[in-house]
Amino acid sequence: MTDAPSYGFDTLQIHAGARPDPATGARQTPIYQTTAYVFRDADHAAALFNLQEVGYIYSRLTNPTVAVLQERIATLEGGVGAVCCSSGHAAQLMALFPLMAPGRNVVVSTRLYGGSITQFSQTIKRFGWSAKFVDFDDTAAIAAAIDDDTRAVFCESVANPGGVVTDIPAVAKVASDAGLPLIVDNTSATPYLCNPIALGATLVVHSMTKYLTGNGTVTGGVVVDSGNFDWSASDKFPSLSQPEPAYHGLKFHETFGPLAFTFHGIAVGLRDLGMTLNPQAAHYTLMGIETLSLRMERHCQNAQTIAEWLEADDRIEKVTYAGLPSSPYHERAKALFPKGTGGLFTVALKGGYDACVELVGKLELFSHVANLGDTRSLIIHPASTTHRQLTEEQQIAAGAGPNIVRISIGIENAEDLIRDLDQALPR
Ligand SMILES: Cc1ncc(COP(=O)(O)O)c(C=O)c1O
Repeated sequence: MTDAPSYGFDTLQIHAGARPDPATGARQTPIYQTTAYVFRDADHAAALFNLQEVGYIYSRLTNPTVAVLQERIATLEGGVGAVCCSSGHAAQLMALFPLMAPGRNVVVSTRLYGGSITQFSQTIKRFGWSAKFVDFDDTAAIAAAIDDDTRAVFCESVANPGGVVTDIPAVAKVASDAGLPLIVDNTSATPYLCNPIALGATLVVHSMTKYLTGNGTVTGGVVVDSGNFDWSASDKFPSLSQPEPAYHGLKFHETFGPLAFTFHGIAVGLRDLGMTLNPQAAHYTLMGIETLSLRMERHCQNAQTIAEWLEADDRIEKVTYAGLPSSPYHERAKALFPKGTGGLFTVALKGGYDACVELVGKLELFSHVANLGDTRSLIIHPASTTHRQLTEEQQIAAGAGPNIVRISIGIENAEDLIRDLDQALPR
């Protein structure tokens, strides 16, 4: 599709990146279930390997079905390019990989998905990288945490699981003043509710496992590049601004301009780390994205109705939905997310840990699973599951203390969900 910027979101979520299959006219994007692509001749092969011609070599790097998905998400996020990968966690590593080196650090929000906290606080140490955790509501603390070895700033737009809305423009200013890229995980909000790039982010990552696919069928991730960052403005990002030894000395920024990060992600990141999305998964995610705006509207409506009902119930201590006037993030959410803040929030039960365990056990319509962003309503008790490897202090900082359940509201009838919650909440 050409002239994409003139179309609205609902049109782009169906058409961006796709065109009838040139070989067969197939209207739906085919699943190109192939590992390799025949070169026309030796010169063609050489041009592809030299990145002088864009095309397909091997599906660890690029695949036509995955390419449509990359273009679609880049368009919806307002980026210049995107690289799909095998999971949301893979996307986070792929986003950091061109920026980091042993001894370098990333400044990250304390309010993150529990798995991301573990990835950043523990696993990346194996690469010689480290993370500094900061309360991102305190922009002075973010600025103070940045040092000469910092190479990126990382947060979630709406933090999982706490319903915390990040002031992306304020955080982007701190990052930009320090000459650093801001990476925003936009998984819980999706590009329908929030465009981090328009608010100042450099890179956007997603777990496509959640709302983008939307029905719990796929594990996938994506890194979207705004194309806005000047990688050559300092000597901090040699993989992009200097000759890259991993690609026979190619200078990515000089050669590809605003697409430097995207090309590096494919030519070096996917080639050497191999965190590739398979074409079947890309197909399911393309199907899901076609209805993203419709689903997100219903997720928001249902979440608002159910959060209000829960807040009024005397078995509940607190509901952290930014759509509620009682939320400290309500005004910020209205300004930054005028279409709503999604379907994810936490509930603190007066009965504490035991009441949470009883609730998840008695629900019939809600599924007790470690996932979110499904058409189905889901619930989990983070302290005993996703956040169990964190200390109690980290759990509380992440909004996942022992008396908290996380709810991902689906697109079923709200009154059915309320009836289910009512019968399962301990009296
Ligand atoms: C906000 C957020 N980011 C990243 C991830 C990791 O994604 P994945 O499970 O696809 O690796 C998750 C998973 O729950 C998440 O909720």
